[in-house]
Amino acid sequence: MTLINLAHWDRVFAAGKGFRQVNSAEMQLLAEHVRPQLGQRAMDVGCGLGGYAAQLASLGYDTLAVDWAGSSIAAVRDRYTNLVPNLEARCLDFEDDASVAALAASGMFDLVTMRLVFAFMSDKPAVAARVRRLLAPGGVWVVTTPLVGRLPEERAHIGLSGDDVEVMAEGWSAGCWYDLEPGGLRCFVMRVPT
Ligand SMILES: C[S@@+](CC[C@H](N)C(=O)[O-])C[C@H]1O[C@@H](n2cnc3c(N)ncnc32)[C@H](O)[C@@H]1O
Repeated sequence: MTLINLAHWDRVFAAGKGFRQVNSAEMQLLAEHVRPQLGQRAMDVGCGLGGYAAQLASLGYDTLAVDWAGSSIAAVRDRYTNLVPNLEARCLDFEDDASVAALAASGMFDLVTMRLVFAFMSDKPAVAARVRRLLAPGGVWVVTTPLVGRLPEERAHIGLSGDDVEVMAEGWSAGCWYDLEPGGLRCFVMRVPT
């Protein structure tokens, strides 16, 4: 398995490099599946330069954008001052259970998103359990990700395998998925019972 460390991400964001841009079609599909209501709370985990978190704030979510890379959080704060207080950014290693618990109470969020992030988590079952703990009844976890089977071998580490998908989806009472485009990124939507 290829592990990508914090120093790598810090270098990427310090150089101002981002990833796939968020567009209105992606956000419309998300809204159709999660049905946002004004004043609901969202956490975007692994927010990078914050484009997706900013869109969540624009959909009406009080949004907390978190990333373990300090350069990412600095960029989000710099780029989206206009969205404060609806968009806050905090440095957080989502794999550090104590830090997550210190930042966010159980059941605090209606939506947790991970866009191009879950594949990089080393303990996926623990991450899934942590997300469930953060979600309120009826809350939703959305994972947007490449799939290993759709990637060339040398980039397989950025995608989810069939086994990863099983681990991720286990124990959620309801769920569905859709593709952003044929053969492209897949979005998994998993819901906590109300
Ligand atoms: C490929 S980038 C995606 C960034 C953003 N979500 C987007 O769609 O442009 C992966 C992000 O996950 C973050 N990340 C990786 N492991 C993390 C962890 N354990 N805790 C918090 N963020 C993490 C990285 O710093 C990076 O910002």
